[in-house]
Amino acid sequence: MKRFAPAVLALALSLPGAALAAGDAAHPEQRSWSWDGLFGTYDREQLRRGLEIFTLQCVNCHGLKYIRFRNLTEIGLGADEAQAIAGQYEVAGDPDEWGDPTVKPAELHHPFPDPYRNEAEARALNNGGLPPDLSLMAKARADGSNYIAALLSDPGYNEGDPDESGLYRNPYFPGGWTAMAPPLWDDMLGDGATVEQEAEDIAAFLTWAAEPRMEDRKSLGLKVVLFLLALTGLLYVCKRKIWAKVDH
Ligand code: HEC
Repeated sequence: MKRFAPAVLALALSLPGAALAAGDAAHPEQRSWSWDGLFGTYDREQLRRGLEIFTLQCVNCHGLKYIRFRNLTEIGLGADEAQAIAGQYEVAGDPDEWGDPTVKPAELHHPFPDPYRNEAEARALNNGGLPPDLSLMAKARADGSNYIAALLSDPGYNEGDPDESGLYRNPYFPGGWTAMAPPLWDDMLGDGATVEQEAEDIAAFLTWAAEPRMEDRKSLGLKVVLFLLALTGLLYVCKRKIWAKVDH
């Protein structure tokens, strides 16, 4: 058994190295976000710009299945505006008189639909890559908000041409090559924003999508801390009062 120990040790030591080699993606730059810190909240205007980018571009390849159109009122859209966005998408309707499937415009209670019928279609149209649903992407990846912003704004990625197999070089994507063509361009909303700003706006929107209750959570946490502080004070006063009558 003893003879194997060095081998086992060597293997154990080499494993983290191997894991590092597989995850050789560049670390995203740390940005400051409006929701950072104890009191930070989402910037509603930034979220709405992110939504516009999403509905203009990302929605063509990515689903957002945990966000219903109704949820868009939480970032400041009116119900009629959310309804207008919903109406641009189709969902399955009742069968017609011949029993054939029909489609109808989506309504407020529907989620953003997946753009593809199935995985095979998604891959066939994306050079073999599978565009994942983006609802939880900001939480599914380590340092998700910074990762999404870095992934989409990398200058080399945005200016680079695909290799012969149609993949784009992106240092932040695991493995360094992605089937997603750069989806952003300067001034895509006509407001003069750069790719860099757009990448932050869409990253903010996807962070909200993954964690729409973050603000409630923070304010509840604050209330709990304040309550505990008040309770501590009260108990201290009680203790003084009760023990004041006792001779020491
Ligand atoms: C033309 C189709 C297309 C469009 C438009 C598109 N994507 Fe993608 N996206 C893909 C594909 C394909 C992949 C999978 C890439 C791969 O596996 O190499 C992907 C992957 C991703 C990933 C996942 C990276 C990971 O860690 O797995 C993110 C994040 C992403 N896209 C965000 C966006 C955002 C945000 C937009 C809109 C600004 C967008 N995409 C627009 C096709 C698209």
